[in-house]
Amino acid sequence: MKVKVSRKAHFNAAHRLYRRDWSFERNEATFGKCNNPKYHGHNYDLIVSVTGEIDAETGYVMDMKVLKDLIKEEVENAMDHKNLNEEVPEFQNLNPTAENIAVVIFNKLRPHIDSSKELEVVLYETPRNFVTYSG
Ligand code: NI
Repeated sequence: MKVKVSRKAHFNAAHRLYRRDWSFERNEATFGKCNNPKYHGHNYDLIVSVTGEIDAETGYVMDMKVLKDLIKEEVENAMDHKNLNEEVPEFQNLNPTAENIAVVIFNKLRPHIDSSKELEVVLYETPRNFVTYSG
């Protein structure tokens, strides 16, 4: 019997979507306002879900306090109130789209979660736009 448990988190961050190897015009045509050289910000909402068997002794799939602290350490401390392009090493050469941010978050969390459990990351860049990655 597998159960999915989820934890919501939140962070604010700035980014710019562009490629250094493209002209400004091509970046503008592809990324529009998101190519603003002065950056712009989003209020990101994150839902991290872990699916697995309920532990017979604790009754938990995963201790939510542990998951909360893990998200704080790996995601919020690394990305909250940061300029993703300039301050988060993973985006040095990776466009910080919602898709790529979700994959980076997944890859940061995955090693810390028991391999018998499934991990899923849902990242809302706006209330209406969100992406899902589960490896
Ligand atoms: Ni944006």
